[in-house]
Amino acid sequence: MLSPIDFVRLRLAARACGRHRPAGRCPAGRAFGSAGPSPRSLPGALALAVVFTVSLGGCALIAAMKGPPAAPPVLDPDLVQRGAILFNDPALSGDASRACATCHPGGGTDWKVYRDGTPESPGLESGWRTMTLRGAWQTAPYLWDNTATDISGAVQRMLAIEMRGGKLEGREREALEQYVLSVPAFDRGRTEPDGTPIEPVTLSARRGFAIAQENCFGCHKPPAYVRLLRYDVGTGGSFAVPTLRGTIPGGPYGHDGRWPDLESAIRSIIAHEQTPLSDEEIANLIEYLWLL
Ligand code: HEC
Ligand code: HEC
Repeated sequence: MLSPIDFVRLRLAARACGRHRPAGRCPAGRAFGSAGPSPRSLPGALALAVVFTVSLGGCALIAAMKGPPAAPPVLDPDLVQRGAILFNDPALSGDASRACATCHPGGGTDWKVYRDGTPESPGLESGWRTMTLRGAWQTAPYLWDNTATDISGAVQRMLAIEMRGGKLEGREREALEQYVLSVPAFDRGRTEPDGTPIEPVTLSARRGFAIAQENCFGCHKPPAYVRLLRYDVGTGGSFAVPTLRGTIPGGPYGHDGRWPDLESAIRSIIAHEQTPLSDEEIANLIEYLWLL
């Protein structure tokens, strides 16, 4: 269940909606922005919940409140196999210059930043860093601004923009979507589903887990290390919570690649969240992230 604080965050998140995409792609956001008074009390929050639920109908927000699905979707193995071939096929792109796998090698991320499918320097406004597709079955709504409510929406956008007007319809399209949903989450097998490190681990990593439980799991919730909502962590708007699985080795970090390394990502986020952590605690956190 969401706390009243979450509702405030939700409203703020919704208000920023559309800042990075043309208006009209985010009807849910507009419904939010016009919602009533701030939820100062639990009954207030509940009343707002009703307003939201009614005004949003079947919106992905309801799914977001429930959290990621517990079990992977049932997929057709033949379609998944066909989808894997399509995923690696440059002929899918409008100018045959790239495959999905060019930017999502092995279903993961190349960690590069693109603007309209063209490489861009990290940290520039309107650049988007490639997201990992590992564990994508758990992370709808999709894209850094959560504007794609389902996998079909995300693939549509990828074909149009990142694949330069690629076309794919019918069964072939379904095959590609099923493949994306079949890519398993990154997992080093070193943590329990609730994030607890599996022994033996270093004292530093164990401490890092305790610090993450306290300061990070509210948004990066195990086992997927996501919340399906957007949050403003001081990066110029509200963005999807990226998974922390497989973030090391990697980078640059952030929706636009603004943080060159993990340490600067963590320092920036905790400064915004006003959680003072010592240098040692940050090192502990990073050691814990190595387990994910
Ligand atoms: C030129 C690089 C590039 C190519 C090619 C590319 N992608 Fe992406 N992908 C990205 C970037 C960048 C993002 C984040 C974009 C955003 O948030 O607007 C992304 C995001 C996604 C997401 C959303 C993931 C999430 O967790 O929200 C999916 C799904 C996806 N891509 C699938 C595909 C598929 C399928 C293809 C091939 C049809 C493809 N991509 C081709 C760069 C690329
Ligand atoms: C209020 C919610 C919230 C909290 C709390 C939070 N994060 Fe995040 N985190 C986010 C969001 C949202 C982003 C994406 C921001 C962006 O890209 O602009 C993010 C991005 C990141 C990234 C970059 C990942 C990538 O793929 O680029 C890392 C690493 C990270 N967070 C680690 C942490 C750690 C460690 C903590 C605990 C100290 C933490 N976060 C606490 C919401 C949160």
